[in-house]
Amino acid sequence: MKYIDAIDYKLEIGSLEESSFSQFLESYVNRKKVIIVDDNTHEHCLPYLITTFQELSDAEVILLPEGEENKQMSIAYSVWEALTDYTVSRNDLVINLGGGMITDLGGFIASCYKRGCDFINIPTSLLGMVDASIGGKTGINLGHFKNQIGVFSNPKAVYIDPIFLTTLPDEEMKSGYAEMLKHGLISNKNLFFEIIEQLENYKELDVEFLGVSLSIKNEVVKNDPLEKGLRKILNYGHTIGHVIEGHYMETLNLSHGHAVAIGMVMEAFLSKIEGKLSEGDYKQIESNILKHFKVPTFSDDDIKSMTEMLINDKKNDSGVIKCCLLSAIGKCSFDNVIPEERFIETFMHFKNLQVNLN
Ligand code: GLY
Repeated sequence: MKYIDAIDYKLEIGSLEESSFSQFLESYVNRKKVIIVDDNTHEHCLPYLITTFQELSDAEVILLPEGEENKQMSIAYSVWEALTDYTVSRNDLVINLGGGMITDLGGFIASCYKRGCDFINIPTSLLGMVDASIGGKTGINLGHFKNQIGVFSNPKAVYIDPIFLTTLPDEEMKSGYAEMLKHGLISNKNLFFEIIEQLENYKELDVEFLGVSLSIKNEVVKNDPLEKGLRKILNYGHTIGHVIEGHYMETLNLSHGHAVAIGMVMEAFLSKIEGKLSEGDYKQIESNILKHFKVPTFSDDDIKSMTEMLINDKKNDSGVIKCCLLSAIGKCSFDNVIPEERFIETFMHFKNLQVNLN
């Protein structure tokens, strides 16, 4: 069992049965417990949870449709109604059992319900384990704009049990690797190359990497929980990644990690043309990541619409586009003001690259 010292909550990595979960549930013995799941975790993860932990035998279960497109207001509204029907109070417990969609949405729902109800996260996807479930970001999408509405709110605990990865679809597993690659790119060169190597055999994740990756994120978040400065480096790859994900949401249905992986290569290209990153480091990033994540085909219209979306990114302020850039593999800076034309140049480069890759 590995324990990470998060801001004000428990963060444990290892078997739930050996963790403090049971003990934690005892502190809610006379309280209502509500487990939020989606179709996938309802089928694959919930049976294990409720049969293993007697304390959850009387828990209410709220089943939501799976998929990032459901991380939206109408779903949140229906859950608030269900919580009200179950007469859940602020001191009861919401358990988010799922990937990033469930922990983002469930955290948001719990945080706004009666001005804040206790919740915990049990992430079941690799992406949720290494990123979404920790750090206190909760939220929903607004149309194509990812996480446009949300609050910072920490769970009471996060329990990360790799057992849930055994039923994870391949594409979802790879999606989680992208965030671990990001942690390497922004602060640990060795981790980047180790994760690239692991990707060759991505189904057999060495749990040690979970701990290393989570510790990087946790340290950054502890330094800057509300993303006033340093935490922005965790957005590396996401400025472009989010618009790719949003733009192709209804057509290609790219996973978040896939979009971020492409975003990281494109932002490395941006770092190079901005004179910060060497050609050698850029090539390492490009060749290693694109081996595992394919770039979608961009038309001129796609580029126009993605550039428009960039301007609306919530990470910007005063109408200028800001982006994280790398100065080396393992070194990242934030708040770099980048002219719109640089993004267009970057998209055009990848439009042409795509032609060469086919
Ligand atoms: N996913 C980036 C962050 O938590 O800040």
